[in-house]
Amino acid sequence: MIPSGPDSPATPLLVSTPADLRVAATALLDAARSRGAADDRPSLALVPTMGGLHAGHAALARAARAANDVVVASVFVNPLQFGDQADLDRYPRTLEADLRLLGAQGVDLVFAPGVEDMYPGGEPLVRVSAGPMGRLFEGASRPGHFDGMLTVVAKLLNLAQPATRALYRAYFGEKDAQQLALIRRMVVDLNLPVQIEGVPIVRDADGLALSSRNRFLAPDERAAALVLSRALVALRERAERGGPLDLAAARAQITAEEGVDLDYLDVVDPASFAPPGEPGPEPHAALAVVAARVGAVRLIDNILLPAPR
Ligand code: PAF
Repeated sequence: MIPSGPDSPATPLLVSTPADLRVAATALLDAARSRGAADDRPSLALVPTMGGLHAGHAALARAARAANDVVVASVFVNPLQFGDQADLDRYPRTLEADLRLLGAQGVDLVFAPGVEDMYPGGEPLVRVSAGPMGRLFEGASRPGHFDGMLTVVAKLLNLAQPATRALYRAYFGEKDAQQLALIRRMVVDLNLPVQIEGVPIVRDADGLALSSRNRFLAPDERAAALVLSRALVALRERAERGGPLDLAAARAQITAEEGVDLDYLDVVDPASFAPPGEPGPEPHAALAVVAARVGAVRLIDNILLPAPR
């Protein structure tokens, strides 16, 4: 990384059109390049978000800031990835607070386009297909969600792609594990010139994974939702002791909690979301994934399990 200048802005620059994004990002990269040696290659990080930001997003921005010369965050509530208009309408829109949070993490530039900036021709006719992995788990409960998510992520990756020679990274949270796996797969399958970085889940002190949706939980629902992380931790502890995975017990623990409607709890290969392979000479990771509705709020969580011994 190139040493940052004394003039790093405390408040991020805000742009809303793809043209302004390109001009501003190029200027920031040029400034970084001019501070470095002739053969230094500056790096640009993109942190895509839908706003409604919390400490989990702050961790994404912090990770991006720590490793890159220029950090761009996007704030765009993508209609394409919502099946339900009511869900789209009530998604939190908190741009002023989001800018403060991103500024506090040292983000240089925020791209907050309107729907007409991202989809000037209306809903895109050509979209990225998430394929079979996109129909499992979250995709089964939210048909079309992952196609819409990948379509906007592909567009954002293209729009923020450095116009001049630079390293390019994009940061996503590990809480949305299936989303992250699909984005990694899209980047490989479509040869997108960007390195994808996963950032660990941020949890409240009591274990609840941070989510923009947590603000919709009533206090009793929030207390009930803790059963999800408790069940995952119990699974991991058992696996660490070398015991067999008792998914039935974990599911029963969740369904016994009043007000919690379990959608799925399973163990998958974190790259493919297929069942994890048979234990072999090479240890392989397995991910326990869970989704449940708590009141009107759909929550997801996951935990990495130790490779079977
Ligand atoms: O995780 C999110 O906030 C969204 O799915 C993303 C990746 C910003 C695409 O809209």
